[in-house]
Amino acid sequence: MHPWTGTSVRLRALEPSDWPVLRRIAEDAEYAEQGGVVPPRPATVFQRRTSPEFTAREDDEFTLAIVATHDEEILGTVSTRLAQPWNGTFGASIALDAERRGKGHATEAAALLLRYMFSERRYQKCNVEVLPFNRASLRLCERLGFIEEGRRRRSHFGRGRQHDIVLLGITAEEYLEQWQTSE
Ligand SMILES: CC(C)(COP(=O)(O)OP(=O)(O)OC[C@H]1O[C@@H](n2cnc3c(N)ncnc32)[C@H](O)[C@@H]1OP(=O)(O)O)[C@@H](O)C(=O)NCCC(=O)NCCS
Repeated sequence: MHPWTGTSVRLRALEPSDWPVLRRIAEDAEYAEQGGVVPPRPATVFQRRTSPEFTAREDDEFTLAIVATHDEEILGTVSTRLAQPWNGTFGASIALDAERRGKGHATEAAALLLRYMFSERRYQKCNVEVLPFNRASLRLCERLGFIEEGRRRRSHFGRGRQHDIVLLGITAEEYLEQWQTSE
């Protein structure tokens, strides 16, 4: 089994030429709907995120491109965040190009990332925060085996009012029980 290749997606390094996809995802209406509205930003913001200074870090906080195995087309990105090796905890986020959603690609890409962090980097817990109206993300977490652990009350402002943030987590054991393939 290749560590970065699943059935329909492969994770690869983000290259400078990938920046237009990052911009398209950030400016997508559904993303704004699910994650919160941000002002339009210049190309340089996205070019910086795909520049070697950003992507060539060798620690456990990184962003990878999700590409389709059949044609190598870029579908989106998946990232680790807030990696705390001393606690064994990390966070993660994922975003797909709008027309590539709903085909199981996010589930497979996230499972590959979690496998790397749990099986190769000795992390033991992944914690994420999701807005309560982001139904796609909540369902993705549920599908991956995350468990809702609580709500941080009134900690996001959007759509003209305060919202709670849903706190979810998955342990290495919970992940491996569900996703480990026999080998
Ligand atoms: C969240 C996101 C990555 C999911 O990507 P995706 O490729 O559609 O996910 P998958 O196809 O792997 O689907 C995972 C599950 O979510 C469900 N789902 C997908 N979109 C959904 C929606 N809009 N509403 C409810 N459920 C949804 C799928 O049906 C699937 O569940 P199932 O197996 O029971 O059918 C994608 O919607 C996205 O990029 N959103 C914008 C960015 C974002 O909000 N990221 C999360 C914050 S970190």
